[in-house]
Amino acid sequence: MIIGGKTWPKDRRWIAVVTLVSVAAIVGYGQEWRLTGSLPGGGSRVGLTCGIVAGLIILFELLLWPRKRVRSWRIGSAQSWLRAHIWLGLLAVPLVLLHARLLFIGGLLNQALMVVFAIVIVSGIWGLVLQQYLPRALLENVPAETIYDQIDHVSRQQCRDAWRLVDASCEAAGPPAGHGSPGGRGTEKGLPPPEESAPEEEESDHAVVTGFRSMTGIQGRVVETLAVHAVIPGTAEIRRRFTADIRPYLLAGRRSDSVLDSVTGAARFFASLREDAPPEAGWLIDHLEQACACRRQFDLQARLHRWLHGWILVHLPLSVLLGVLLAVHVPVALLYW
Ligand code: HEM
Repeated sequence: MIIGGKTWPKDRRWIAVVTLVSVAAIVGYGQEWRLTGSLPGGGSRVGLTCGIVAGLIILFELLLWPRKRVRSWRIGSAQSWLRAHIWLGLLAVPLVLLHARLLFIGGLLNQALMVVFAIVIVSGIWGLVLQQYLPRALLENVPAETIYDQIDHVSRQQCRDAWRLVDASCEAAGPPAGHGSPGGRGTEKGLPPPEESAPEEEESDHAVVTGFRSMTGIQGRVVETLAVHAVIPGTAEIRRRFTADIRPYLLAGRRSDSVLDSVTGAARFFASLREDAPPEAGWLIDHLEQACACRRQFDLQARLHRWLHGWILVHLPLSVLLGVLLAVHVPVALLYW
Protein backbone atom coordinates (compact mmCIF):
# COMPACT_ATOMS: atom_id res chain seq x y z
CA MET A 1 0.00 0.00 0.00
CA ILE A 2 1.23 3.48 -0.86
CA ILE A 3 1.21 5.94 2.03
CA GLY A 4 0.61 9.59 1.12
CA GLY A 5 -0.31 10.89 -2.31
CA LYS A 6 -4.05 10.84 -2.97
CA THR A 7 -4.75 8.98 0.28
CA TRP A 8 -2.86 11.50 2.40
CA PRO A 9 -6.03 12.97 4.12
CA LYS A 10 -6.93 9.47 5.39
CA ASP A 11 -3.37 8.82 6.56
CA ARG A 12 -3.31 12.22 8.27
CA ARG A 13 -6.39 11.25 10.30
CA TRP A 14 -4.74 8.03 11.37
CA ILE A 15 -1.52 9.83 12.26
CA ALA A 16 -3.54 12.22 14.47
CA VAL A 17 -5.27 9.29 16.25
CA VAL A 18 -1.99 7.39 16.78
CA THR A 19 -0.25 10.53 18.10
CA LEU A 20 -3.11 11.49 20.44
CA VAL A 21 -3.51 8.02 21.95
CA SER A 22 0.27 7.59 22.31
CA VAL A 23 0.67 10.99 24.03
CA ALA A 24 -2.29 10.28 26.34
CA ALA A 25 -0.82 6.89 27.29
CA ILE A 26 2.65 8.35 27.91
CA VAL A 27 1.25 11.22 30.03
CA GLY A 28 -0.90 8.79 32.06
CA TYR A 29 2.09 6.49 32.54
CA GLY A 30 4.28 9.42 33.64
CA GLN A 31 1.68 10.51 36.18
CA GLU A 32 1.32 7.03 37.66
CA TRP A 33 5.12 6.74 37.82
CA ARG A 34 5.29 10.11 39.69
CA LEU A 35 2.49 9.13 42.11
CA THR A 36 3.79 5.67 43.00
CA GLY A 37 7.49 6.53 42.80
CA SER A 38 8.30 3.35 40.83
CA LEU A 39 8.15 2.30 37.19
CA PRO A 40 4.56 1.07 36.60
CA GLY A 41 4.44 -2.55 35.41
CA GLY A 42 1.94 -4.44 33.29
CA GLY A 43 -0.44 -4.85 36.23
CA SER A 44 -0.59 -1.12 37.09
CA ARG A 45 -3.67 0.90 36.14
CA VAL A 46 -2.12 2.49 33.03
CA GLY A 47 0.09 -0.55 32.29
CA LEU A 48 -2.87 -2.91 32.28
CA THR A 49 -5.01 -0.56 30.16
CA CYS A 50 -2.16 -0.30 27.61
CA GLY A 51 -1.76 -4.10 27.67
CA ILE A 52 -5.47 -4.73 27.03
CA VAL A 53 -5.64 -2.20 24.16
CA ALA A 54 -2.38 -3.53 22.63
CA GLY A 55 -3.70 -7.12 22.92
CA LEU A 56 -6.92 -6.17 21.15
CA ILE A 57 -4.91 -4.39 18.45
CA ILE A 58 -2.75 -7.49 17.92
CA LEU A 59 -5.92 -9.57 17.63
CA PHE A 60 -7.23 -7.13 15.00
CA GLU A 61 -3.86 -7.24 13.18
CA LEU A 62 -4.12 -11.03 12.97
CA LEU A 63 -7.61 -10.76 11.47
CA LEU A 64 -6.02 -9.39 8.27
CA TRP A 65 -4.99 -12.94 7.43
CA PRO A 66 -8.54 -14.45 7.28
CA ARG A 67 -9.78 -11.16 5.80
CA LYS A 68 -7.49 -11.68 2.80
CA ARG A 69 -8.20 -15.37 2.37
CA VAL A 70 -11.83 -16.03 3.33
CA ARG A 71 -14.19 -14.67 0.66
CA SER A 72 -17.22 -14.36 2.95
CA TRP A 73 -15.09 -12.13 5.23
CA ARG A 74 -14.85 -9.29 2.74
CA ILE A 75 -16.27 -6.66 5.10
CA GLY A 76 -14.89 -3.20 4.38
CA SER A 77 -12.47 -2.40 1.58
CA ALA A 78 -9.02 -4.01 1.48
CA GLN A 79 -7.49 -0.52 1.53
CA SER A 80 -9.30 0.46 4.76
CA TRP A 81 -8.22 -2.78 6.45
CA LEU A 82 -4.64 -2.33 5.42
CA ARG A 83 -4.56 1.31 6.47
CA ALA A 84 -5.99 0.40 9.90
CA HIS A 85 -3.52 -2.52 10.07
CA ILE A 86 -0.54 -0.28 9.52
CA TRP A 87 -1.45 2.58 11.83
CA LEU A 88 -2.88 0.44 14.65
CA GLY A 89 0.19 -1.81 14.38
CA LEU A 90 2.40 1.24 14.92
CA LEU A 91 0.18 2.42 17.80
CA ALA A 92 0.72 -0.96 19.46
CA VAL A 93 4.45 -0.17 19.81
CA PRO A 94 4.24 2.55 22.52
CA LEU A 95 1.37 0.71 24.22
CA VAL A 96 3.33 -2.54 24.43
CA LEU A 97 6.43 -0.69 25.68
CA LEU A 98 4.42 0.96 28.47
CA HIS A 99 2.73 -2.33 29.33
CA ALA A 100 6.13 -4.07 29.44
CA ARG A 101 7.63 -1.63 31.99
CA LEU A 102 9.72 0.02 29.22
CA LEU A 103 11.31 -3.40 28.58
CA PHE A 104 12.58 -3.90 32.16
CA ILE A 105 10.91 -7.28 32.20
CA GLY A 106 11.87 -10.70 33.39
CA GLY A 107 10.70 -14.19 32.46
CA LEU A 108 11.51 -16.16 29.35
CA LEU A 109 7.96 -16.04 28.01
CA ASN A 110 7.73 -12.24 28.32
CA GLN A 111 11.12 -11.76 26.68
CA ALA A 112 10.23 -14.13 23.84
CA LEU A 113 6.98 -12.23 23.38
CA MET A 114 8.85 -8.94 23.09
CA VAL A 115 11.42 -10.30 20.63
CA VAL A 116 8.71 -11.77 18.38
CA PHE A 117 6.67 -8.58 18.61
CA ALA A 118 9.73 -6.51 17.64
CA ILE A 119 10.46 -8.72 14.61
CA VAL A 120 6.81 -8.55 13.47
CA ILE A 121 6.83 -4.75 13.71
CA VAL A 122 10.20 -4.30 12.00
CA SER A 123 9.29 -6.73 9.19
CA GLY A 124 5.95 -4.94 8.73
CA ILE A 125 7.68 -1.56 8.44
CA TRP A 126 10.25 -3.07 6.04
CA GLY A 127 7.46 -4.52 3.87
CA LEU A 128 5.66 -1.20 3.85
CA VAL A 129 8.83 0.64 2.78
CA LEU A 130 9.35 -1.86 -0.06
CA GLN A 131 5.75 -1.34 -1.17
CA GLN A 132 6.46 2.39 -1.53
CA TYR A 133 9.26 1.90 -4.08
CA LEU A 134 9.28 -1.49 -5.77
CA PRO A 135 5.98 -1.35 -7.71
CA ARG A 136 7.16 1.91 -9.33
CA ALA A 137 10.59 0.41 -10.07
CA LEU A 138 8.81 -2.52 -11.70
CA LEU A 139 6.63 -0.23 -13.81
CA GLU A 140 9.56 1.92 -14.95
CA ASN A 141 12.22 -0.72 -15.53
CA VAL A 142 10.26 -3.76 -16.66
CA PRO A 143 8.10 -2.78 -19.67
CA ALA A 144 8.16 -6.44 -20.73
CA GLU A 145 6.61 -7.54 -17.40
CA THR A 146 4.82 -10.88 -17.54
CA ILE A 147 3.08 -13.09 -14.96
CA TYR A 148 5.75 -14.02 -12.41
CA ASP A 149 4.95 -17.75 -12.41
CA GLN A 150 5.13 -17.79 -16.21
CA ILE A 151 8.60 -16.29 -16.56
CA ASP A 152 10.30 -19.62 -17.37
CA HIS A 153 7.57 -20.61 -19.80
CA VAL A 154 7.60 -17.24 -21.61
CA SER A 155 11.41 -17.33 -21.76
CA ARG A 156 11.34 -20.76 -23.40
CA GLN A 157 8.75 -19.49 -25.85
CA GLN A 158 10.90 -16.48 -26.67
CA CYS A 159 13.94 -18.69 -27.16
CA ARG A 160 11.98 -20.85 -29.59
CA ASP A 161 10.83 -17.74 -31.50
CA ALA A 162 14.42 -16.54 -31.76
CA TRP A 163 15.63 -19.99 -32.79
CA ARG A 164 13.08 -20.15 -35.60
CA LEU A 165 14.43 -16.90 -37.02
CA VAL A 166 18.07 -17.96 -36.65
CA ASP A 167 17.41 -21.42 -38.06
CA ALA A 168 15.57 -20.05 -41.08
CA SER A 169 17.92 -17.16 -41.84
CA CYS A 170 21.43 -18.30 -40.95
CA GLU A 171 23.82 -20.57 -42.74
CA ALA A 172 24.48 -23.87 -41.06
CA ALA A 173 27.68 -23.98 -39.05
CA GLY A 174 28.85 -27.12 -40.89
CA PRO A 175 28.62 -27.61 -44.68
CA PRO A 176 26.75 -24.67 -46.29
CA ALA A 177 23.02 -25.11 -46.76
CA GLY A 178 21.56 -25.18 -50.25
CA HIS A 179 20.72 -21.81 -51.78
CA GLY A 180 17.37 -20.48 -50.61
CA SER A 181 16.78 -23.35 -48.24
CA PRO A 182 16.63 -22.92 -44.48
CA GLY A 183 19.84 -23.87 -42.73
CA GLY A 184 18.67 -27.11 -41.12
CA ARG A 185 15.53 -26.36 -39.13
CA GLY A 186 15.62 -27.45 -35.52
CA THR A 187 18.35 -29.96 -36.23
CA GLU A 188 21.07 -28.64 -33.95
CA LYS A 189 21.70 -30.54 -30.77
CA GLY A 190 20.34 -29.02 -27.59
CA LEU A 191 18.12 -26.39 -29.16
CA PRO A 192 14.60 -26.04 -27.81
CA PRO A 193 12.19 -28.32 -29.65
CA PRO A 194 9.41 -26.48 -31.46
CA GLU A 195 6.85 -28.49 -29.47
CA GLU A 196 4.30 -25.72 -29.15
CA SER A 197 4.13 -24.60 -32.73
CA ALA A 198 1.90 -26.27 -35.27
CA PRO A 199 3.69 -28.12 -38.09
CA GLU A 200 2.31 -25.79 -40.76
CA GLU A 201 3.50 -22.81 -38.75
CA GLU A 202 6.98 -24.34 -38.73
CA GLU A 203 7.11 -24.30 -42.48
CA SER A 204 5.47 -20.89 -43.01
CA ASP A 205 7.53 -18.00 -44.34
CA HIS A 206 6.53 -15.84 -41.39
CA ALA A 207 7.44 -16.15 -37.72
CA VAL A 208 5.31 -14.79 -34.91
CA VAL A 209 7.64 -13.43 -32.25
CA THR A 210 7.12 -11.57 -29.00
CA GLY A 211 8.91 -8.42 -27.97
CA PHE A 212 8.21 -5.22 -26.07
CA ARG A 213 7.80 -1.60 -26.99
CA SER A 214 7.98 1.61 -25.02
CA MET A 215 6.42 4.59 -26.75
CA THR A 216 5.26 7.98 -25.44
CA GLY A 217 4.88 6.73 -21.91
CA ILE A 218 2.94 3.60 -22.89
CA GLN A 219 4.85 0.37 -22.66
CA GLY A 220 4.13 -3.30 -22.89
CA ARG A 221 4.63 -6.58 -24.66
CA VAL A 222 3.85 -6.85 -28.36
CA VAL A 223 3.48 -9.71 -30.80
CA GLU A 224 5.12 -9.18 -34.19
CA THR A 225 4.98 -11.16 -37.39
CA LEU A 226 8.37 -11.16 -39.10
CA ALA A 227 8.99 -12.41 -42.59
CA VAL A 228 11.31 -15.41 -42.52
CA HIS A 229 13.94 -14.68 -45.15
CA ALA A 230 15.92 -17.11 -47.16
CA VAL A 231 19.32 -18.00 -45.74
CA ILE A 232 21.55 -14.92 -45.60
CA PRO A 233 25.08 -15.73 -46.73
CA GLY A 234 27.84 -15.14 -44.17
CA THR A 235 25.65 -15.72 -41.11
CA ALA A 236 27.08 -19.00 -39.79
CA GLU A 237 28.71 -17.04 -36.96
CA ILE A 238 25.30 -15.76 -35.77
CA ARG A 239 24.02 -19.31 -35.62
CA ARG A 240 27.13 -20.40 -33.72
CA ARG A 241 26.89 -17.56 -31.19
CA PHE A 242 23.16 -18.14 -30.79
CA THR A 243 23.84 -21.76 -29.81
CA ALA A 244 26.83 -21.01 -27.61
CA ASP A 245 25.79 -17.78 -25.86
CA ILE A 246 22.34 -16.41 -26.66
CA ARG A 247 20.27 -19.54 -26.26
CA PRO A 248 21.65 -20.48 -22.79
CA TYR A 249 21.04 -16.92 -21.67
CA LEU A 250 17.48 -16.77 -23.05
CA LEU A 251 16.66 -20.02 -21.27
CA ALA A 252 18.38 -19.55 -17.91
CA GLY A 253 18.84 -15.77 -17.61
CA ARG A 254 21.36 -14.68 -14.99
CA ARG A 255 21.75 -18.29 -13.80
CA SER A 256 23.66 -18.90 -17.06
CA ASP A 257 26.41 -16.56 -15.80
CA SER A 258 26.56 -14.95 -19.22
CA VAL A 259 28.03 -11.60 -20.33
CA LEU A 260 24.58 -10.93 -21.76
CA ASP A 261 23.30 -10.41 -18.23
CA SER A 262 24.80 -6.91 -18.14
CA VAL A 263 23.68 -4.07 -20.39
CA THR A 264 27.24 -3.13 -21.32
CA GLY A 265 28.29 -6.78 -21.79
CA ALA A 266 25.34 -7.34 -24.12
CA ALA A 267 26.04 -4.09 -26.03
CA ARG A 268 29.66 -5.22 -26.61
CA PHE A 269 28.58 -8.74 -27.58
CA PHE A 270 26.07 -7.54 -30.19
CA ALA A 271 28.40 -4.84 -31.52
CA SER A 272 31.02 -7.50 -32.26
CA LEU A 273 28.34 -9.77 -33.76
CA ARG A 274 27.26 -6.91 -36.05
CA GLU A 275 30.85 -6.36 -37.17
CA ASP A 276 31.16 -9.99 -38.21
CA ALA A 277 27.75 -10.23 -39.90
CA PRO A 278 26.52 -8.95 -43.28
CA PRO A 279 24.34 -5.79 -43.11
CA GLU A 280 21.28 -7.77 -44.34
CA ALA A 281 21.34 -9.66 -41.03
CA GLY A 282 21.00 -6.43 -39.04
CA TRP A 283 17.28 -6.95 -38.36
CA LEU A 284 17.97 -10.43 -36.98
CA ILE A 285 20.71 -9.19 -34.63
CA ASP A 286 18.36 -6.40 -33.50
CA HIS A 287 15.74 -9.00 -32.67
CA LEU A 288 18.21 -11.19 -30.75
CA GLU A 289 19.46 -8.18 -28.82
CA GLN A 290 15.91 -7.27 -27.90
CA ALA A 291 15.15 -10.82 -26.82
CA CYS A 292 18.17 -10.68 -24.46
CA ALA A 293 17.02 -7.29 -23.12
CA CYS A 294 13.63 -8.85 -22.48
CA ARG A 295 15.21 -11.76 -20.61
CA ARG A 296 17.19 -9.26 -18.49
CA GLN A 297 13.91 -7.59 -17.61
CA PHE A 298 12.36 -10.91 -16.59
CA ASP A 299 15.27 -11.50 -14.21
CA LEU A 300 14.84 -8.03 -12.75
CA GLN A 301 11.10 -8.65 -12.42
CA ALA A 302 11.77 -11.92 -10.56
CA ARG A 303 14.23 -10.20 -8.21
CA LEU A 304 11.84 -7.32 -7.46
CA HIS A 305 8.99 -9.79 -6.99
CA ARG A 306 11.00 -11.77 -4.42
CA TRP A 307 11.87 -8.58 -2.52
CA LEU A 308 8.28 -7.38 -2.64
CA HIS A 309 6.80 -10.63 -1.32
CA GLY A 310 9.68 -12.32 0.57
CA TRP A 311 9.36 -10.31 3.78
CA ILE A 312 5.83 -11.67 4.36
CA LEU A 313 7.48 -15.07 4.97
CA VAL A 314 8.86 -13.55 8.18
CA HIS A 315 5.95 -11.27 9.04
CA LEU A 316 3.12 -13.78 8.74
CA PRO A 317 4.49 -16.85 10.60
CA LEU A 318 5.88 -14.70 13.40
CA SER A 319 2.52 -12.91 13.69
CA VAL A 320 0.90 -16.28 14.24
CA LEU A 321 3.59 -17.16 16.80
CA LEU A 322 2.94 -13.80 18.47
CA GLY A 323 -0.77 -14.69 18.71
CA VAL A 324 0.10 -18.07 20.29
CA LEU A 325 2.54 -16.52 22.80
CA LEU A 326 -0.06 -13.88 23.65
CA ALA A 327 -2.68 -16.56 24.26
CA VAL A 328 -0.28 -18.17 26.77
CA HIS A 329 0.87 -14.85 28.27
CA VAL A 330 -2.61 -13.62 29.26
CA PRO A 331 -3.69 -16.52 31.54
CA VAL A 332 -0.15 -16.91 32.97
CA ALA A 333 0.04 -13.18 33.80
CA LEU A 334 -3.45 -13.23 35.36
CA LEU A 335 -2.48 -16.27 37.45
CA TYR A 336 0.53 -14.50 38.97
CA TRP A 337 -1.09 -11.08 39.31
C1 HEM B 1 1.40 -6.82 16.19
C2 HEM B 1 1.57 -6.36 15.04
C3 HEM B 1 1.24 -7.00 13.73
C4 HEM B 1 0.68 -8.22 13.42
C5 HEM B 1 0.23 -9.28 14.39
C6 HEM B 1 0.59 -8.30 11.98
C7 HEM B 1 0.08 -9.37 11.26
C8 HEM B 1 -0.11 -9.40 9.90
C9 HEM B 1 -0.81 -10.43 9.17
C10 HEM B 1 -1.45 -11.65 9.80
C11 HEM B 1 -0.78 -10.10 7.86
C12 HEM B 1 -1.43 -10.85 6.71
C13 HEM B 1 -0.39 -11.59 5.91
C14 HEM B 1 -1.00 -12.30 4.72
O1 HEM B 1 -2.04 -12.89 4.86
O2 HEM B 1 -0.41 -12.24 3.65
C15 HEM B 1 -0.05 -8.86 7.74
C16 HEM B 1 0.21 -8.20 6.54
C17 HEM B 1 0.86 -6.99 6.45
N1 HEM B 1 1.33 -6.23 7.50
FE1 HEM B 1 1.23 -6.69 9.45
N2 HEM B 1 1.10 -7.15 11.44
C18 HEM B 1 1.50 -6.33 12.47
C19 HEM B 1 2.05 -5.09 12.38
C20 HEM B 1 2.33 -4.43 11.21
C21 HEM B 1 2.95 -3.14 11.10
C22 HEM B 1 3.38 -2.27 12.29
C23 HEM B 1 3.05 -2.85 9.78
C24 HEM B 1 3.61 -1.64 9.08
C25 HEM B 1 3.92 -0.52 9.62
C26 HEM B 1 2.53 -3.97 9.05
C27 HEM B 1 2.46 -4.06 7.68
C28 HEM B 1 1.88 -5.08 6.99
C29 HEM B 1 1.77 -5.10 5.56
C30 HEM B 1 2.28 -4.03 4.59
C31 HEM B 1 1.13 -6.31 5.22
C32 HEM B 1 0.85 -6.83 3.80
C33 HEM B 1 -0.52 -6.51 3.40
C34 HEM B 1 -0.70 -6.75 1.91
O3 HEM B 1 -0.01 -6.11 1.13
O4 HEM B 1 -1.54 -7.56 1.58
N3 HEM B 1 2.09 -4.91 9.93
N4 HEM B 1 0.34 -8.46 8.99
